Amino acid sequence: MTIRTVLRMGEPLLLTVAKAVTEFDTPELHALIQDMEDTMADMHGAGLAAPQIGVSLRVVIFGQKENDNTHNPRYPDADKVPYTVLINPKLSVIGQAQEEGWEGCLSVPGLRGLVPRYLHLHYTGFDQYGHPIERTVSGFHARVVQHECDHLDGLLYPMKMTDLTTFGYTDVIFPDQTLP
Ligand code: NI
Repeated sequence: MTIRTVLRMGEPLLLTVAKAVTEFDTPELHALIQDMEDTMADMHGAGLAAPQIGVSLRVVIFGQKENDNTHNPRYPDADKVPYTVLINPKLSVIGQAQEEGWEGCLSVPGLRGLVPRYLHLHYTGFDQYGHPIERTVSGFHARVVQHECDHLDGLLYPMKMTDLTTFGYTDVIFPDQTLP
């Protein structure tokens, strides 16, 4: 169990396009994913991208394991998203419909902002064993995938905001809730 340090906005690696994974089911890849899982759990993240722990590879994890029935305290109203390891993802938007929603990021601690995201999404990729993944998703699941995959292209959610007046400190915007 290794909880890694999450890089914060300002770190050049977070602005770098990550490289594709070329070998699956290796001890290095399994160790990376284990560290990402431990780090995400410790920080109650809804997702985590490898560049956030300093590894510039196209690997993201997101969602909650089946036996975890708790609500994520960072996103108490969110629909449950199945725990997923997604490598070398490819996203294609379905339709042009977008929806605004509150986002935070472990690399931008203490802040929240409203971010428009595509509502419907088809994505493909691989798990850590090289098995293909293909899904069509909507809503919060689609939002999380877009947020995490943006990290692989060096994009953080404030760069996707269209109204910066909604950008602020979590405890100021949501004074009655304790969102980590
Ligand atoms: Ni993030």
